Amino acid sequence: MYRNLGMELVRVTEAAALSAAAYMGTGDKNGGDGAAVDAMRSVLRSVEMQGIVVIGEGEKDEAPMLYNGEIVGSGQGPELDIAVDPVEGTTLLANGRPNSISVIAAAPRGSMWDPGPSLYMKKIVVEKNARQAIDIRQSATENLHHIAKALNRPISDLTVFILDKPRHKELISEIRSAGARITLHTDGDVMGGLMAAVPGTGVDVLMGTGGTPEGVITAAAVKALGGGMQTMIDPMLESEKQALLKQRPEAFDLVLGLDTLIQSKDAFFAATGITGGTFLEQVHLDRAGGVTTHSIVIRAISGSIRYVKGIHQLNPEHVFGPGPA
Ligand code: FBP
Repeated sequence: MYRNLGMELVRVTEAAALSAAAYMGTGDKNGGDGAAVDAMRSVLRSVEMQGIVVIGEGEKDEAPMLYNGEIVGSGQGPELDIAVDPVEGTTLLANGRPNSISVIAAAPRGSMWDPGPSLYMKKIVVEKNARQAIDIRQSATENLHHIAKALNRPISDLTVFILDKPRHKELISEIRSAGARITLHTDGDVMGGLMAAVPGTGVDVLMGTGGTPEGVITAAAVKALGGGMQTMIDPMLESEKQALLKQRPEAFDLVLGLDTLIQSKDAFFAATGITGGTFLEQVHLDRAGGVTTHSIVIRAISGSIRYVKGIHQLNPEHVFGPGPA
């Protein structure tokens, strides 16, 4: 893979975020997603690579998608697996809540884990210094004890990011009993994983069950950051469970770590904030002065982390589209 790819990928997530931002708070989940997909697809054409989308998003909730198997890129350059989530947190965007982002990950062809019929997986993510401390087969309490020890901090100082879903009722009460702090979010566990893997963000651990595509995308970021992550498939739907029993019966007992989810040393991850959060700022719409985006781009092989502030001069005919009617 070539060094500039990360900067090219940021252009892709910036474009998606710029288009999606017009839908903030409109209640139009699919409108924002569709605008981001169109922008992403359009800018991807100019990226020098031979990409295949192996993790697209949409089958789960029939959102407009960059579908699995779609060929992306200029047709020249490295052969890559591409994972995209044009809007990660479509409901966050539609409601104008924090932490919706646009994300993309790239890794050499054949190296990204194929989720097959798996829609949901259980995840645990931590930063570099605690990566040896996690074991997803152990309880949340045991994990928190080990993480606290590895980070040399009391459990009461740790903050755990959890999706606020009924399925996490017991997990939440266990973590509270263990004495850790919790930050609950209705959506957006890629951001949760990212924050858990970057030290000093205010999130120390991501725990709980979320989307499988989101899990593979998160793995690209965590791998690049040198953090720790383990997952296990965790079907939430009966149809999903039946399909997995038929197609991947062995997957039920497997711990899927970073080297399974991303089977290569190199990987790129880029994300741009759409609605603002504590980690990535929102798209600031000021057409007169320029529209500002905030992104992160990470590369596994070099360990480089870049925070990119983009100032974009948009005109009415701009490629990013007209926004909501
Ligand atoms: P969308 O962007 O597709 O709406 O996904 C948001 C999200 O919250 C992910 O961050 C998370 O992994 C997944 O949905 C959880 O799924 P569910 O809301 O069905 O529990």
